[in-house]
Amino acid sequence: MMKKEDFLAIWLKGGRVTFTEELRGLLPLRPAGLLTRPADVLAARRLTDSISAAGAPQRDPRGMQRTFSDLLVFRLDGGSEQPVVVKHPRSARATASLAHECEVVQRLARDERLGRWRRLLPVVEERRLQGHLPLVVESCLPGIGADVLLHRSPQLARRVTVSALRAIRELHQATGWEEEVTARAADWVDPRLAVLAEEVRWCRRAKGAEALRVLGERLVRELTGRRLLLAWTHGDYHPGNVLLEEGQGALCGVIDWAGALPDGPSLLDCHTFVLTMRHQQEGRQFGRIVAEVVRRGSLLPEDRRLLAEAGALADDNRGEVALTLLTWLWHVAGNVTKSARYGRSHRWVADNVVPVLSQVAAHETP
Ligand SMILES: Nc1ncnc2c1ncn2[C@@H]1O[C@H](COP(=O)(O)OP(=O)(O)O)[C@@H](O)[C@H]1O
Ligand SMILES: [Mg+2]
Repeated sequence: MMKKEDFLAIWLKGGRVTFTEELRGLLPLRPAGLLTRPADVLAARRLTDSISAAGAPQRDPRGMQRTFSDLLVFRLDGGSEQPVVVKHPRSARATASLAHECEVVQRLARDERLGRWRRLLPVVEERRLQGHLPLVVESCLPGIGADVLLHRSPQLARRVTVSALRAIRELHQATGWEEEVTARAADWVDPRLAVLAEEVRWCRRAKGAEALRVLGERLVRELTGRRLLLAWTHGDYHPGNVLLEEGQGALCGVIDWAGALPDGPSLLDCHTFVLTMRHQQEGRQFGRIVAEVVRRGSLLPEDRRLLAEAGALADDNRGEVALTLLTWLWHVAGNVTKSARYGRSHRWVADNVVPVLSQVAAHETP
């Protein structure tokens, strides 16, 4: 928790920290289900009524969840219709993310280069983001999240990682081209550093601000002159966004396209998957895992092997660490963009932001 002296220092410097903000920083990232459930049931019922065609059989909302990115998500199944997922944004940020996600999914669905790969994508069936009951209705893909499956069957970890990497590499290969990325480095790095500075108070203070500067310089320097495969990049390719069949673990869906872009550094998706798998397998926070990579100066041997098999390992250790840092920056900036809750949470900042930036500042290379 923040010390009284720190609090006063920021207050006196005009940091505009209020006790309300300070208290919010202590709240859990996801609101307690028991408290929000009655309101969610009511909202889901209203949303369902608003999309049911006149005379169509009533369908009951099921599996309601509030996600970390301010969405209320639930399923509608039963009757003769295919099951669908309804996503209701609960903030302006969530609405913007959902609008982008719809555009991406619709563009990918029209992209002939993807062929059968498109069976892995949800289909947007209705998009209504104006008005007081905004929502998106998507086809419900089969399978369960790889995070859930691996929780039950951790022995499948390697097999799942190999097939998740293979699947996303198919997307990259189908839509990608090699390019020397010097001119793109600042665009990839600077806006994301700015988002962290804006949303995370620690990043505006002396140590944090200096570490952001060091990180920015290091990333741009390491990316300069490199040739990378630019392609459609998912941008948040972690096990929770990959759906697998329960039995054999075959991959049957990729969801949550809100962070995707057509000309991204595609290696990022592979690094995100491998690093978030470590987080899941070892129960350690993502930021601490990344900080370890920076301290060690390389990824773990098993992760290097997985990335090498997927053709997604940098040619040298410096590049390996730089891509890991870019992956981290993308991930944390993506989170704080999706929901203001991340940047405000002391716990999330302490686990995910501070360890990496402290390690980067401590290992500043000339
Ligand atoms: N098209 C879909 N088919 C099946 N399940 C889905 C679909 N879209 C979302 N879900 C479920 O809803 C959850 C949250 O959706 P997601 O788009 O990943 O939101 P968030 O950005 O908050 O992670 C997913 O983890 C998954 O369980
Ligand atoms: Mg998700």
